[in-house]
Amino acid sequence: MRLRAEPSSPASVETDVLAVPIYREDRELSGDLAELDAATGGVIRAAIDWGQFNILEHYTALIDAGSIRAELILLVNGVRRGRGPWRARRIASTATRRLQGTGARRLALWLRDGEDADGYAAAGVGAMQGTYRPTELYGRVRDTEAMRRSVEEVSLIGAPDQAGLDHASTVAEGVEFGRTLANRASNDLYPERMAEVARGLESDGCSVEILGVDEMRALGMNALLGVGQGAAHEPRLIAIRLPGWERAAADRRLAIVGKGVCFDSGGISIKPADKMEEMKHDKSGAAAVIAAARTVARLAPDAPLMAVAPMVENMPGGNAQRPGDVVKAMNGKTVEVINTDAEGRLILIDALHWAETQGASHLVDIATLTGAAAVAFGDLISAYFARPRDWGAEVQAAADATGEWFWEMPLATEYRASLDSAYADIINSGTRDGSLIKSAVFLADFVTKPWVHVDIAGSAYLTADKAVNPKGALGTGVSTLVRLALDYAKQG
Ligand code: BES
Ligand code: MN
Ligand code: ZN
Repeated sequence: MRLRAEPSSPASVETDVLAVPIYREDRELSGDLAELDAATGGVIRAAIDWGQFNILEHYTALIDAGSIRAELILLVNGVRRGRGPWRARRIASTATRRLQGTGARRLALWLRDGEDADGYAAAGVGAMQGTYRPTELYGRVRDTEAMRRSVEEVSLIGAPDQAGLDHASTVAEGVEFGRTLANRASNDLYPERMAEVARGLESDGCSVEILGVDEMRALGMNALLGVGQGAAHEPRLIAIRLPGWERAAADRRLAIVGKGVCFDSGGISIKPADKMEEMKHDKSGAAAVIAAARTVARLAPDAPLMAVAPMVENMPGGNAQRPGDVVKAMNGKTVEVINTDAEGRLILIDALHWAETQGASHLVDIATLTGAAAVAFGDLISAYFARPRDWGAEVQAAADATGEWFWEMPLATEYRASLDSAYADIINSGTRDGSLIKSAVFLADFVTKPWVHVDIAGSAYLTADKAVNPKGALGTGVSTLVRLALDYAKQG
């Protein structure tokens, strides 16, 4: 799909479909929208009056465009006004998704509110996201040629320049790459296979290092290895360094660390069967950092970036880790494993510590870490914790700029005492109260450098189709991590 900056006005743009966001307050058409409606001969007004587009119920309506040059008008709802890149991305994604399987090849998107360059770029990424079809991954036989049709060209009315949209295309490809990795089934994408995927980034100029079990054992990564010991597929630790990593100043190196649990059965503390298939998405953090590294390598290879992905499968079995086991993490602290289902934090602590030993001065980890994050935040919002909070503000700014919704949570280290163990330095899982915060407090014990932890347990994937995206992985975090790395490189 191509993205174009479009200088024409909504009434004069030549296209198959003109997409127009409609808000609650548009029950009385005014301003630019009233002008467009008049130019069409009143089709928008009529659609709303006839109840074809009920702002409270419908997300989209496809109507004849009347006397303007476009063939059809797509009215798009589902967002509130004044939300910048987030709004733009969502509208664009809803529009291209609505046109899947139709004959529309060209879409012109009128955002109505004047967006800045970030807003148009986010719209571009959203437009490409909306064409994503999960059924392509394994070539679903019952999909017809007609179902496979999608918009080929999206014109963004009022976009300031083409270069910004070309950049957005590259980011969107990265989001799609991460999304597809996260959607792959666990029998198809296990740790060694993810390592092969990572090796592919050598053709983007990255250096790729893969640690196997023996190497990790020699380094003392027993927290990570303990999680993986019950599975037939062996763990791997993936490290992807951009060319800029080696050249960077020692105090300016960014490591992004992604949780890569290819399947989370819970292990001996096994999960209930209901919805367990969703746990193939427990590698979404790893998918995000690998996709972000590939994208940054293409946009700014001099960025001082390393992506680290600890990859395991969390399975029960005769050799699996037991509740009560005590493991010594790479940083020397001992962990009592109360619950083998709190495995994400166990692999992250060794990966984060290892990243520090490799020279990382700033860290961001991203993980589908806790059900509590999904309960509290749902699928729209990613929760993060920061130490110091200034570093969190940089992550927040990157998220805001690309239209991802991040929200800070308090890193209340006062809760640390509730993680005390009778046998070890710390337990991996305490009581339910405050468990989202306590998961971050657990990680904090193993990190010394400026660090942000992002919990995407709720936001990594949808559990059902929505107007804006299909069921499955969303590529959450990719655009934010790319933006963060680019901004970070500029400050260097
Ligand atoms: N991968 C899960 C978290 C998760 C749950 C992600 C639902 C997406 C949707 C994680 O490894 C986990 O099992 N967490 C436990 C921790 C508990 C045992 C302390 C949880 O949140 O229940
Ligand atoms: Mn788990
Ligand atoms: Zn997990």
